[in-house]
Amino acid sequence: MAMTTIDGVPIHFFDSGDAGKPPLALIHGFPLSSAMWEAQVAALKGKARLIAYDVRGHGRSGAGDGQYSIELFVDDLFALLDHLKIAKAALCGLSMGGYIALRAVERAPERVGGLVLCDTRSEADSNESKLKRAEAAKAVKRDGSAAFAEKFAPSVFSAASLAAGKPQVALVKRLIAAAPPIGVAGALLAMAGRTDTTAALARIAAPTLVIVGELDALTPPSSAKALADAIPGAELAVIPGAGHLSNLDQPELFNELLAGFLACL
Ligand code: MLT
Repeated sequence: MAMTTIDGVPIHFFDSGDAGKPPLALIHGFPLSSAMWEAQVAALKGKARLIAYDVRGHGRSGAGDGQYSIELFVDDLFALLDHLKIAKAALCGLSMGGYIALRAVERAPERVGGLVLCDTRSEADSNESKLKRAEAAKAVKRDGSAAFAEKFAPSVFSAASLAAGKPQVALVKRLIAAAPPIGVAGALLAMAGRTDTTAALARIAAPTLVIVGELDALTPPSSAKALADAIPGAELAVIPGAGHLSNLDQPELFNELLAGFLACL
């Protein structure tokens, strides 16, 4: 991992550096870190210039003042690409990472050479979701990240993965437990305040693949289908047996899809 400072906040990132390969920035879900992409980075070696980074408030990156918006996360993404002298990259974002990718392509389509939108949606939060996030932000500051991890992890894997005690479940709990409560709360408020990017979907010209776990309870296949239907030429892939964190739940199937997408860039 390397580090750069963006807007006064240390941002940790991995850059495979493959010159001449299409750059692909991997944007993790809430409240994880770039470590969730380990299986993808290993499997896609040599197929792309892979960049995986810790969004501020997550992983090894600094939390700053804990006051975030998706807009600020997009600022950080573009600043990181600037730092790496990358004018245009494909973006692969899962869930919160998808919210960041969707706002990034709406804001600066010329910087986005391809999109992989995993287990995510374009709609803003409903009032009910905003209130749940406000409650969760209070809870994580009161009870800490480890307690938050115990509640959150069961919602993002398939029942079979949980029952089998897959190592990925323990990894996710570990990553969340290590996240600073101020970062987790800040990301929750950023997601609650995000804009609705649905109206911009019809203007997306970059090749797009929408991936969703068949058993994703947070952003179900019906949401993914709506997303894919609204983006010209987008393809939809449903991963059998996977929950919300589809890349961790079924890494081999996910990697095949990503490799196929990269081959077409
Ligand atoms: C994520 O996986 O990034 C979050 O669950 C997304 C969300 O809560 O909307």
